[in-house]
Amino acid sequence: MTASSTATLSFSDGSPSIEFPVLKGTVGPDVVDIKTLYGKTGKFTYDPGFMSTAACRSAITYIDGDKGELLYRGYPIEQIATNCDYLETCYLLLNGEMPNAAQKDAFVSNVSHHTMVHEQMQFFLRGFRRDAHPMAILTGMVGALSAFYHDTLDINNAEHRHIAAIRLIAKMPTLVSMAYKYSAGQPMIYPKNDLSYTANFMRMMFATPCEEYQVNDVLVRALDRIFILHADHEQNASTSTVRLCGSSGTNPYAAIAAGVACLWGPAHGGANEAALSMLLDIQKNGGVEKIGEFITAVKDKNSNVRLMGFGHRVYKNYDPRAKLMRETCYEVLGELGLQNDPLFKLAMELEKIALSDEYFVSRKLYPNVDFYSGIVQRALGIPTSLFTAIFALARTVGWIAQLNEMLADPDQKIGRPRQLFTGATARDVMPLHQR
Ligand code: SDX
Repeated sequence: MTASSTATLSFSDGSPSIEFPVLKGTVGPDVVDIKTLYGKTGKFTYDPGFMSTAACRSAITYIDGDKGELLYRGYPIEQIATNCDYLETCYLLLNGEMPNAAQKDAFVSNVSHHTMVHEQMQFFLRGFRRDAHPMAILTGMVGALSAFYHDTLDINNAEHRHIAAIRLIAKMPTLVSMAYKYSAGQPMIYPKNDLSYTANFMRMMFATPCEEYQVNDVLVRALDRIFILHADHEQNASTSTVRLCGSSGTNPYAAIAAGVACLWGPAHGGANEAALSMLLDIQKNGGVEKIGEFITAVKDKNSNVRLMGFGHRVYKNYDPRAKLMRETCYEVLGELGLQNDPLFKLAMELEKIALSDEYFVSRKLYPNVDFYSGIVQRALGIPTSLFTAIFALARTVGWIAQLNEMLADPDQKIGRPRQLFTGATARDVMPLHQR
């Protein structure tokens, strides 16, 4: 990170102009370093939603929203999704380089041997209603993990952070499948260490004590790719939440639980659940013939209807993950003999119509990762309410990598934004009888 030039801020009220360094990264937009602005001017910047704000420096994930490009540690998502599996991707995000065979074997073995959760964790489940949303359960259970590892909670201890990373990556599939089994009224299925990470998760989801799960490699590969596509995504809302939470020095489990809570929102990770519900509603109300009516409602500001799975704060082109997800749709539906799945056809017709409509084109609204992921997951037998929990499972490694990077940054301080105050200025409290 080098100062490539300077930016001058001048004021029309005669205040003296001030120069700030302009910093250049390896690729992407330069930044104006305004750290000293308040000290020099007594003024803050104002940027709700952080539309023009870089909150940190990072070397993990790069997105070019105009080109529709996504790189994990410099590798294009298309190449990773084709040539790697999810645990290799985890190793890459955490360590910055692809593992060699020995490193991969050691990492996989380490993760495999941490997949069980403390037996007491099951009793937390009993406290929830059977119809509790899986994200409510997951938010609670991830935070509760911190109650079981008192000896390794020091977020500033690299070894503690490492074992917490392995435990969280390893246990998320177990926790997500426990939430699912609890809602289905079925007993939880314990992990099996001789299965791959994703096959193990699918077995914990779909096996029962009465019947083993028959691993289907095409379906396992498809879900593993879904995990890869969701693993990290720069400074999105939930990652920024994890960074801010972790900046207070809290333990890794609590910081990741905050990320789970943020991801739940329908504008963020909850969009895949909302996108599938949207498609099911259109299908129920007439299917393809009703798309025009739906698009009209979306364009009507007063309707509060959004085309879920479309649009993105950064991508002003096709989300590269959506393209890969659509390919995965073809693979999974083909393997399951569902090529004519009406929902998939409806989604492709909706995409075609939206991409030719001036409203979406002028606002650069393209399908994002959530538009197709619900169709794939539904075909895999995953209930809609579990989609965001699957997203959280996959994103855990990204949250951890970003948290660790923040903690290792010498410039890191506790995050404490300021405000533009618009409330009442100082005034006296009147005695009750005079109010
Ligand atoms: C994820 O940040 C990340 O990287 C997130 C994520 C990740 O991997 O972590 O990629 C995962 O969260 C993907 C996004 C999933 N969300 C959705 O699919 C929900 C639907 N999309 C949106 O609500 C919206 O597009 C956002 C929240 C994703 C982005 O919103 P912005 O950047 O704040 O844009 P905006 O809301 O200001 O919209 C700009 C214009 C507005 O119209 P005008 O006021 O200019 O007339 O576009 C319109 C919006 O009304 N618009 C949409 C729309 N999204 C934006 N109109 C209809 N349908 C939509 N989906």
